[in-house]
Amino acid sequence: AVAAAAAGRFDLARTLSQMLHIQNVFVVEGDSDTEPWVADQLGLQAGQYLHTVLRDGDVVAVTGGTTVAALARNMISRQDYRNLQVVPARGGVGETVEYQANTIASTLAEKLGGTSIMLHVPDRLSPGAVEQLLTDPYVQERLPIIRASTVVVHGIGDAMAMARRRRASEEELSILKTRGAMAEAFGYYFDEHGDVAYSMKTIGLRLSDIGHVREVLAVAGGTQKANAIAAAAKAYRIDTLVTDEGAARRLVQHQ
Ligand code: G3H
Repeated sequence: AVAAAAAGRFDLARTLSQMLHIQNVFVVEGDSDTEPWVADQLGLQAGQYLHTVLRDGDVVAVTGGTTVAALARNMISRQDYRNLQVVPARGGVGETVEYQANTIASTLAEKLGGTSIMLHVPDRLSPGAVEQLLTDPYVQERLPIIRASTVVVHGIGDAMAMARRRRASEEELSILKTRGAMAEAFGYYFDEHGDVAYSMKTIGLRLSDIGHVREVLAVAGGTQKANAIAAAAKAYRIDTLVTDEGAARRLVQHQ
């Protein structure tokens, strides 16, 4: 039965790879919506995969969230990388400390014998404040490093769930609804076609930076994220997706 289940997941991964145009797909057992331990499995699998792509000198950008936090928590330590940096993909201090990109970057850097940098920028900024911050030496020193990342590790969220978690204003919520926002990743919201429905005014990695990133790894699971994963896969290049059976089965059903 164990072998059959594994074969089932292997088939799911292959189907998803073709369907979403993602080169490498891994499907772990379970559904993280209903089984909390599945997040750790996602993290473990993604961490193992990450070891196979990391090279000396890499700059690894990580986003926040519970799933990428699970990756950092479950990452098997290896200290022999040289000149490895782990950086937050973008500023953001609106979440629980444990799930902030800064915290995750520092945990991961420790596990990989690398260094990390922090970017303390609030999630919610006026356009004027963003302009001003961009001229700040603290930001000017860090931003080019982040935007030249060689590896990106990120979570994908359901648009509305993320907007609520970030305490979006009524105005933002109504924009997201009207524009049919489906997915959220790196502070960008995407509709079902993968078009940008809305982007948060914060500082960090931009969608246009993804083009020069060597490896884009997405980690996201749970039945309720199926539509979000499909939308994100249309929006930008994902090289590798680590997901769970919950999301995978729903995605295949909706094909
Ligand atoms: O951008 C998406 C979020 O980081 C996903 O967060 O892993 O806690 O669901 P999550």
